Amino acid sequence: MAEPGMGESGGDNAVATGPRTPALGVLVSGRGSNLRAILDAIARGDLRARAGIVISSRAGVPALEIAAARGIPTRVIAPRDYPSRAAEGAAVVAALSEAGVDLVVLAGYARIFDPCVVRAFPYRILNIHPSLLPAFAGGMAPKPQADALAAGVKLSGCTVHFVTDEVDAGPIIAQVAVPVLDDDTVERLAERILAAEHTLLPEAIRRVLEGHPRVTGRRVLFDHR
Ligand code: GRF
Repeated sequence: MAEPGMGESGGDNAVATGPRTPALGVLVSGRGSNLRAILDAIARGDLRARAGIVISSRAGVPALEIAAARGIPTRVIAPRDYPSRAAEGAAVVAALSEAGVDLVVLAGYARIFDPCVVRAFPYRILNIHPSLLPAFAGGMAPKPQADALAAGVKLSGCTVHFVTDEVDAGPIIAQVAVPVLDDDTVERLAERILAAEHTLLPEAIRRVLEGHPRVTGRRVLFDHR
């Protein structure tokens, strides 16, 4: 597929360096534990960024409360309020642009983007998925975790990848493996994977912001850690 904004030769995709603190746009749909992990990493000084806006596809979810409690601007962009996926996508792009967002992070966002969003932020949208992609792609938690358990794999984990028009198939930025234990239930496995996500996602954001990622074919390469 055509990779927007970056050729095989690998242009420099550093998002923001220098004195300006990069702004994140975080998209959520529910619980918000990954959002909290990002905000905690920022508060600890482990991630030099700021949350410019939190957008939710659902009203009244805990993630919105987490954002509001920390004074972060929030928006609800719910599919039923728009006549088409394209119109919904255009609203997302407008909200992110108005907030001056440098990097977009999907943290439990239960929507598939219209291509206009991916075009507006080429290689600037990250997603976290609770499996070792490309295994168990597609579906929202806990489906990937349940599928891994049912398949009998001994290792699962989580993946942060760039978002492209193909669901859960964009170039992989970072992964962590989590063992599947003999007495695991879907809930227990999902819980351990989630704990790994909370470390992986802020660290992957940091690497994208600071590590000058280049996409070469399907690979994401960094100049430095
Ligand atoms: C996580 O499992 C994440 O991998 C998936 O959705 C879930 C979101 O959880 N994309 P939370 O809302 O961050 O707690």
